[in-house]
Amino acid sequence: MTHPYTGKLAVLYENHGDPLPFVHLAEQLAVPLRNSADIGFDQHEAFFLSWREGMLKLLDHELLKKGGMAVDIEPRQGEQRSWPAPKDGALAKALGRKTKTVVDATTGWGQDSLHIFRMGYELLCIERSPLMAALLADGFKRLAQADWMQRLQLQPPTLLAGNAIELLASLPEPPDCIYLDPMFPPKRKKSALAKKSMMVLRDLLGDDEDKDALFAAALEATGKRVVVKCPDYAPPLGGGKPSDSFHGKLLRYDVFLK
Ligand SMILES: C[S@@+](CC[C@H](N)C(=O)[O-])C[C@H]1O[C@@H](n2cnc3c(N)ncnc32)[C@H](O)[C@@H]1O
Repeated sequence: MTHPYTGKLAVLYENHGDPLPFVHLAEQLAVPLRNSADIGFDQHEAFFLSWREGMLKLLDHELLKKGGMAVDIEPRQGEQRSWPAPKDGALAKALGRKTKTVVDATTGWGQDSLHIFRMGYELLCIERSPLMAALLADGFKRLAQADWMQRLQLQPPTLLAGNAIELLASLPEPPDCIYLDPMFPPKRKKSALAKKSMMVLRDLLGDDEDKDALFAAALEATGKRVVVKCPDYAPPLGGGKPSDSFHGKLLRYDVFLK
């Protein structure tokens, strides 16, 4: 199987620690393994995956020197640190007052998922990019080890790697809500407001052109509702009229009831 990032991504062994996890990750993703000690290692790919500071990180050429992008498991700024955090804000309103079970069918960097998880919903995550699934698996492993998770005896969300269009059709129970945040084409070529991690996702994976099929699969599989996060300039997914819309900063959560 070829992935959209073939030729763009390698696993990078930075010459310390056990090389075996790096070998396995390169095999799993079917991408080359490079060694930072080799001259010219950075001539081939634009992106690298490496473990730094105990986290799996995605690096571009700028980040090779320092840093990297990992799944951030810390609460967002302003979010209450107790668990469960209060169910307030536009996202919680869109998920619905009576909702208990949520499937995030487009998990990406897991930021919405982790917010949903911290508000106490029962959550299943789906991600089709093997690269993002590897970053998420690492993030959820770190989450499982967090003090507060262990104290409260909580398990991180389950992660399914694969295409949600297929996976949603075989859920054992219809969830109360299926949450979708597919990649929409940007309004401008380079938005100054887009976070670097999201721009990288677009570079590596491109737009999600099958979002209408995903929306149809979600409506079919949900028990009660589908929530779609979209930029405020985009028309509602599926061409229909949402039952309700909740507005955030430059974005909208459209609610479609079954
Ligand atoms: C815009 S990102 C989601 C960002 C995410 N909400 C967050 O908070 O980090 C879209 C993600 O959905 C994934 N995706 C799109 N269509 C999918 C599908 N049919 N099945 C599974 N994952 C999908 C893409 O691979 C990408 O990682």
